[in-house]
Amino acid sequence: MKVVPGPASRELGLRVAELLGADVVPVKHKLFPDGESYVRFDGSVEGETVAIVQSTYPPQDKHLIELCLLADTAKDLGASRVIAVVPYMAYARQDKRFLSGEAVSIDTVLKLLEASGVDKLITVDIHNRDVLKRSPVEAVDLTAIPLLARYMVEEKGFSGAFALAPDRGALERAEEASTILGGGFGWLRKERDLVTGEIRRGEELLDVEGRTVIIFDDMISTGGTIVTATEILKKRGASRVYAACTHPLLVGEALKRILESGCDGVVGTDSVPSPVSVVQIAPLLARELRNEL
Ligand code: R5P
Repeated sequence: MKVVPGPASRELGLRVAELLGADVVPVKHKLFPDGESYVRFDGSVEGETVAIVQSTYPPQDKHLIELCLLADTAKDLGASRVIAVVPYMAYARQDKRFLSGEAVSIDTVLKLLEASGVDKLITVDIHNRDVLKRSPVEAVDLTAIPLLARYMVEEKGFSGAFALAPDRGALERAEEASTILGGGFGWLRKERDLVTGEIRRGEELLDVEGRTVIIFDDMISTGGTIVTATEILKKRGASRVYAACTHPLLVGEALKRILESGCDGVVGTDSVPSPVSVVQIAPLLARELRNEL
């Protein structure tokens, strides 16, 4: 197997290759003055299984097109199998037609990957795992939640903390984290306005008085979900609130907003480079890729 660290995930790709003991095929890339992406393999992929590591965090469209260009070119240059390792899968939240006439964006993106020659897709904590059941390419979703929970225990000393899902969709993640933290789990109701994106929450009767609470989620984008959850937890007397997520997109002032809301800290993985990307997912990816050796 050869590992191709894509332009969005160079360091992560190199770490994965090192753990696998696999050769790396570097990629030269640039942006033309009109904004178009250019990629070039700086090495042979002929006859090889090729693992392209490319997370599709913002700018998503650029990172996605780079991924498609790399996959299609790898096949064109004679790669026998192309595995797209996409820790953060863009467009995954638009997984259904919430309003009539909308694009089901994740389905379009999965079709694009198939058309680009991707044989297998590996994601990490994709927003809704169920979308992969209808993927036209073989797909597997890994989870970094145990890595995040272990970090909270080993590096922060938060054994016994309460694991909270900031909405119903994250409940399984909080439950999984609680098997490591050992302090129980729960969830908060969340309603998002489909047009403005504004979050509404009701009054919650969570018993978190004096507790350390860690909010687990797949991603933090604007921070609105974490801010509104933190406010409820603080009102309910939580002594410390932390947020842990797999994909810290932290758009704009998100981190500042979260910390100003009373959240004591944010921890994320390096699926997306950010100031809080302290948990490494390379071992998780390498373990899955080992099945392909
Ligand atoms: C939504 O259900 C997701 O799991 C996240 O909770 C959400 O996308 C985070 O977005 P934001 O940080 O903008 O609230």
